[in-house]
Amino acid sequence: MRNNTPRTALVTGGARGIGVEMCRQLADKGLRVLIGARRPQAAEETCRAIGPAALPLTLDVTSAQSVTEAVREAGQLTGGIDVLVNNAGVSLDGELRPPYVDEDVLRATLDTNFTGAWRVTQAVVPGMVEAGYGRVVNITSSYGSLALMDSGRHPAYRISKTALNALTRMLAAELSGTGVLVNAADPGWTRSGMGGPSAPRGPEVGADTPVWLATLPEGSETTGGLFADRKPLPW
Ligand SMILES: NC(=O)c1ccc[n+]([C@@H]2O[C@H](COP(=O)([O-])OP(=O)(O)OC[C@H]3O[C@@H](n4cnc5c(N)ncnc54)[C@H](OP(=O)(O)O)[C@@H]3O)[C@@H](O)[C@H]2O)c1
Repeated sequence: MRNNTPRTALVTGGARGIGVEMCRQLADKGLRVLIGARRPQAAEETCRAIGPAALPLTLDVTSAQSVTEAVREAGQLTGGIDVLVNNAGVSLDGELRPPYVDEDVLRATLDTNFTGAWRVTQAVVPGMVEAGYGRVVNITSSYGSLALMDSGRHPAYRISKTALNALTRMLAAELSGTGVLVNAADPGWTRSGMGGPSAPRGPEVGADTPVWLATLPEGSETTGGLFADRKPLPW
């Protein structure tokens, strides 16, 4: 709670896939949730499904103008963002391997998964530092772990997540002592548009670790980590 009002979370890509479930679980925990989505109608539909704690926010993480406008609107609607979940992501490689990746695919993947997350973070974190409280959760993947990098599958996607992991560590170090905790979460292979219908996990399982990190209690010192199933994952 801040000044007797609930904390506000922004989930990017919150109108589809695991993001919807993150929004639902955050609302269930008493937070106001801004459903960040490129398509306003999708955000509104998700809000109706979740209930009054959810508010729609038009947001394309690849557009600096969209990010600026969305964060300004979020401030007007809620007074500020306390929790940021950088969830928006794309996987565009198909079966391409590193020697054959199309440069446009690499650029588009990085622009959403890495630069997009950084863009939103830069717009939101100064307000968190000013408030002395913040939780940033970057949704990465075991595919981005250098320690587990044992094949060339999905190279652009993997490198985008490795870069996001690096940003997580740098931000966490930089924001140490400010009250802003920054962590990365791997939801695991989860049924969604990206994960497909054969994935072993449902969205409620995939959302659990991100939501845990997004709601770390006051005084928590958990920052600068990469987690899956609430346990550390090697970088
Ligand atoms: N599913 C898995 O097995 C798995 C495993 C590890 C990590 N992850 C990560 O989990 C996160 C969520 O993935 P998911 O499985 O839920 O995939 P998904 O069903 O494909 O959903 C992706 C979400 O990202 C949004 N998005 C894409 N580009 C965007 C942009 N430029 N601006 C704003 N939103 C954008 C999509 O919005 P639109 O509806 O507008 O396209 C959608 O809401 C991703 O970061 C992904 O890399 C997933």
